[in-house]
Amino acid sequence: MTTTGTPPLPKAELHLHIEGTLEPETVFALARRNDVALPYASVEDLRARYEFTDLQSFLDIYYANMAVLRTREDFAELASAYLRRCPGQGVRHVEMFFDPQAHTARGVPMADVVGGLTDGIDAHAADVSAGLILCFLRDQPAADAEATLRAAEPYLDRIIGVGLDSAEVGHPPSKFTAVFDRARALGLKPVAHAGEEGPASYVREALDELGVLRVDHGIRSLEDDDLVARLRRDRTPLTVCPLSNVRLGCVPGIGLHPLPEMLDAGLNVSVHSDDPAYFGGYADTNYAAARDGLGLTTDQLRTLAENSFAASFLDEATKTMLALRAREWKPGPGPA
Ligand code: HPA
Ligand code: ZN
Repeated sequence: MTTTGTPPLPKAELHLHIEGTLEPETVFALARRNDVALPYASVEDLRARYEFTDLQSFLDIYYANMAVLRTREDFAELASAYLRRCPGQGVRHVEMFFDPQAHTARGVPMADVVGGLTDGIDAHAADVSAGLILCFLRDQPAADAEATLRAAEPYLDRIIGVGLDSAEVGHPPSKFTAVFDRARALGLKPVAHAGEEGPASYVREALDELGVLRVDHGIRSLEDDDLVARLRRDRTPLTVCPLSNVRLGCVPGIGLHPLPEMLDAGLNVSVHSDDPAYFGGYADTNYAAARDGLGLTTDQLRTLAENSFAASFLDEATKTMLALRAREWKPGPGPA
């Protein structure tokens, strides 16, 4: 939420797939540079295909587009291009997901993926803090996740956590109990997508089997009253992505998104952008959707931003300081 003369609401971005920031123009630029053939006639043709019916219809094009990411420099530019946008949107801290299996399977070395992303992060360290969360692809075998974690071990000083993403239904969290046990033993913070398309029982499993410290999405938790009571009692953070949920058909329209109900239920929710190059906007646009599409008040927007810092893996003093900045934020004249 940017306003002329008014600083944007300070916030943390905790649910962002860095590969989901690959804009169509960049897909074409990298395809040219790396001599990758694209099955699209133009940027407009590619963008016109961003009409999704469900998570899988998005994932198909999301993974296909990644074929243009080949070198350490490509990954550095991807992270840099995203982080450059952050100050203008009030994003002070980012915990970004990346999908190494989608790259190593194409022959890109883990060293180039992590090295490139950290080059980008380091280049913007003066403006925005950022960490990496390595996601396992849940529609691939658990053994592949275990091999991926082993391949990442030399780089763990630059990775703050592990996550679980990709096609949810039919791939419950319990499939990954062993690799999450190992990741936690290595000191990595566990998070997982659950309750996006999958049932509330997957949210329970993510808590019980994987020991997650945050649930990504979690919107279907509302179907289980006992789970809602547990999430409220434990103040479990839920990273909610309104525009993503609409674009993937998880909710029928922005006005029907359960975010207000989640806030009213006392859940520890924050708002994020998931795959902004595909779903129509970055953090500021998702906050604007919460305000304009869902009628959230300024006070509720401040709460979402405070929650985002509290749910982050920053140290306690920094979290408190940034949450206070969010609480003190005042919208200016015009759009907040
Ligand atoms: N859900 C699951 N996996 C993903 C997503 C998502 O929204 N984006 C990128 N990988
Ligand atoms: Zn996601």
